[in-house]
Amino acid sequence: MQYLPFARMETHRRRFALQESGKLIFLVAWWGNLPVAQALLNWQGGDASGVPPQIRPWPEVSSLFVSPSYRRMGIASLLLDMSEQIPFLQGYDNIGLCVYIDNQPALNLYARRGYKDAGWAPYLASGTYVDPKGGQRDWEETRIYLLKSLVSSSSSLEMLEERQQNKQNVG
Ligand SMILES: CC(C)(COP(=O)(O)OP(=O)(O)OC[C@H]1O[C@@H](n2cnc3c(N)ncnc32)[C@H](O)[C@@H]1OP(=O)(O)O)[C@@H](O)C(=O)NCCC(=O)NCCS
Repeated sequence: MQYLPFARMETHRRRFALQESGKLIFLVAWWGNLPVAQALLNWQGGDASGVPPQIRPWPEVSSLFVSPSYRRMGIASLLLDMSEQIPFLQGYDNIGLCVYIDNQPALNLYARRGYKDAGWAPYLASGTYVDPKGGQRDWEETRIYLLKSLVSSSSSLEMLEERQQNKQNVG
């Protein structure tokens, strides 16, 4: 855990505990022995505050972050590949996420991957974070909710078979 440069140790502890309890998968991308990016795949909705109260019976990606020196190298795309493939194989048809309306890099990334505005009204998300000097800070931003269909014609036969098998095991 001490090697993870993003967020605070407490946050990582909480996320690992949630992973242990089966609520999410904490994905970390490594560059050699250096962790350079992260994403959370939440099975029961993300940890973002203020998401409109629509029923969201699909997994959500949150906390996608790539270290600045490692951006535009396809790392977020690889994390999203994993974040989408895992629920697809589990039999889910959709995946969702929230994004700040002015985060153009992220909006470009998601649009390119087929995420679409769910059509819900933009909403205000807020919370607190601890700055590098240990001070408590408030944040708030207007977000939209994006949704992607995981069912595409590009899935391999092996993946479709595994998905079908998993669906049968659940049903
Ligand atoms: C947004 C973010 C996750 C992208 O990570 P990344 O590893 O650089 O993304 P990728 O290399 O996989 O980019 C894939 C595509 O997304 C788009 N994209 C990514 N960053 C972009 C940028 N700064 N400007 C414009 N388009 C961008 C491009 O279409 C890019 O393809 P290209 O490089 O062939 O043009 C990263 O900039 C980041 O961590 N930002 C801060 C945290 C954040 O905003 N997270 C998202 C929260 S919703």
